[in-house]
Parts: sequence; C-alpha cells; structure tokens
Amino acid sequence: NLPVAVKIVEVGPRDGLQNEQIQIPTAIKLRFIEQLADAGLSVIEATSFVSPHAIPQLSDASEVMQNIQRKAGVEYSALVPNLKGLERALAAGTRSIAVFTAASESFTRHNINASIAESLANFRPVIERARADGIAVRGYISTAFGCPYEGAIAPQQVLHVAHALIELGVEELSLGDTIGVATPRAVIDLLNLFLDDQSIPLEQIGVHFHDTRGTALANVLTALQMGVSIIDSSAGGLGGCPYAPGAAGNLATEDLIYLLQGLGLAATIDLAKVVAATSIIAPYLTHEPTSKYYRAAKAQ
Ligand code: HMG
Ligand code: MG
Repeated sequence: NLPVAVKIVEVGPRDGLQNEQIQIPTAIKLRFIEQLADAGLSVIEATSFVSPHAIPQLSDASEVMQNIQRKAGVEYSALVPNLKGLERALAAGTRSIAVFTAASESFTRHNINASIAESLANFRPVIERARADGIAVRGYISTAFGCPYEGAIAPQQVLHVAHALIELGVEELSLGDTIGVATPRAVIDLLNLFLDDQSIPLEQIGVHFHDTRGTALANVLTALQMGVSIIDSSAGGLGGCPYAPGAAGNLATEDLIYLLQGLGLAATIDLAKVVAATSIIAPYLTHEPTSKYYRAAKAQ
C-alpha cells in the first residue's frame, strides 16, 4: 500500500548548509538551488531567517531569497523563528515559511532559547501575520524520535506539540528525527498514535529523517506504507543540526529518489540533475557528500 504521489521537500540549501563547517559563497548557493529546481524538485527550503549569531552559514538569507531565478511552480521556503525573521523573510520576497520547535524541552532551549510553550507563543503572531499575507506555513517538530539531551521521547509528547501547531494555523507538519535514531518500529508507533487520534490527517504530515544510523530509507518506506506522502531530504545527504551533536547526514535526496523511482513514484525528477546539484556544492565541503547514490554515480 503506497501513496499515488509523493511530495518531496528538498532541505539541502537550509538543513544541509546550516551544518557544514564552511561558508559557501552566495552565488554558489544560488546555482545549487536553481539546479535543484531544474532537476524537478518543486519544494525547496532555500535558507533560514534565524539569528546570524546562531547560524552564520545562512547569514546571507536575504541575498539568497532575493536573487533566486525562480522557476514557475516551484515553492522556495525558509525557516522563520520569530517576528524579526518573518519581517526579513517578507522583505526578501519569501512566500512560504516554516516555524520550528521540538518535542523535548532541552532541545528547544538549546536550539531556540525557549521552552516549548514559549516557542508556541512566539509563533502565534508569526503564523497569524503570515497567513494574513497568504504565506504557506509549515511546522517542524524536532526530536520526534529521540533527543540528544533527554534520550527517548514519548510519542504522546509529539502529538501534543502537533495539536498545538495545528491549532496555531500550521498547514503541514514535519516530524524530525533530528539525531537519526528512529527505526521502523518507532515510526509505526508514532504514526499509529496520529491515526488513532484522528484529528490530524496523515496528508498533513511529513517525515524528516536523518541517516545518522543508516535507518532513514527503511523509515521512509515504513511511513509511505502507513500513508505518509510528504518526505524531506537533502541533496548529497548534506547537513545535520548544530544543536544536535552527532546529527551528521540528512537523508540524501538522491538515495530517496532512487528508492521512490524503483517504486514507481517521483517520475518527474531527473536524478542525474540532482547529482549535478550536489556536484556544485561538493568542491566547497570539507568531506565527500554522504549520499550513496551520488558516490555510485561519481564512481562510474
Ligand atoms: P535569542 O538569543 O533568545 O534571541 O535567540 P534574541 O531575541 O534575544 O536575539 C539575540 C540576537 O539575535 C539579537 O542580535 C537579535 O537581533 C538577533 P544582537 O542584538 O545580539 O546583535 N535576532 C535575529 N537576527 C536575525 N534574524 C532573526 C533574529 N532573531 C533574533 N530572526 C533565536 C533566539 C530563535 C533568534 C535564536 O536562538 C536562533 O536564531 N536560533 C536558530 C537556531 C537554528 O536555526 N537551528 C537550526 C534549525 S532547526 C533544525 O535544523 C531541525 C530541523 O531540520 C528538523 C529536525 O531535523 O529535527 C528543522
Ligand atoms: Mg533536520
């Protein structure tokens, strides 16, 4: 049982680059984003309007967002933590944003210097203003499967935060396995809780896996079989999270697309062009991209 269509949210330019040690020139980021759109990726998280003290790698957010040569039909989104971020995002022409909190208190404190309740209260005016302007709003719940500081997270806690975000007006949720500890069993348990609860349809839920322990694709397949059709991935497997030690490696877009195309999905994406996008960034990295498909393609 698989969904008939899958929405892929490409997070490489944001989640990927926020955690790479080096500062990538803005012009290279723009080429990367434009190549990803050319490959057929229709939702691209381009940058973050967060504090430049927190994430210096993305301090050129306004320049990036303003200068993308936009392809028709492609959504270029950005992370926004507060009203200041929203103002910067709107001024740069952003039409799709994501707010982000977590299922664990300690991670939320380290990541955005707030409790979960404070983060939700901070989002209220951000979401209200965004929605009044017709801006699409996604909400991330990090540490949905485990926290670097607290360990295991109760699925009930994830559902609790999910309800709060939906109540604030978020249209789509992304459940983040920030440190890459999830296994298919945990995915089944968490999604079953949402299914039993019945108040948030799975059509509104995306999954965001990090491949730290090699379980990301198994988790994706499990989520697809349970009815999830929104999947986040990062070209080349770039990234992680600076506030989640050991979180190196998002699920790679190339590896995801290879799996999906084998299942008869994501036919409109040109895998060779995704590899070409990763190749634009690769020379600037301090390591080889972790995507297995990318490495296999390069070895040929
Ligand atoms: P704070 O220190 O509590 O905020 O940080 P503040 O309001 O006291 O401001 C401190 C300074 O930041 C001030 O500057 C503000 O002006 C500035 P100063 O006067 O010291 O020069 N500032 C800003 N500047 C630009 N844009 C803004 C902004 N806001 C404040 N929007 C804050 C709180 C939330 C701002 C900070 O902690 C922050 O930016 N955190 C972002 C952390 C982050 O980006 N983490 C990674 C993204 S989450 C993730 O990767 C997980 C995910 O992939 C899913 C998963 O894998 O689980 C989504
Ligand atoms: Mg992430």
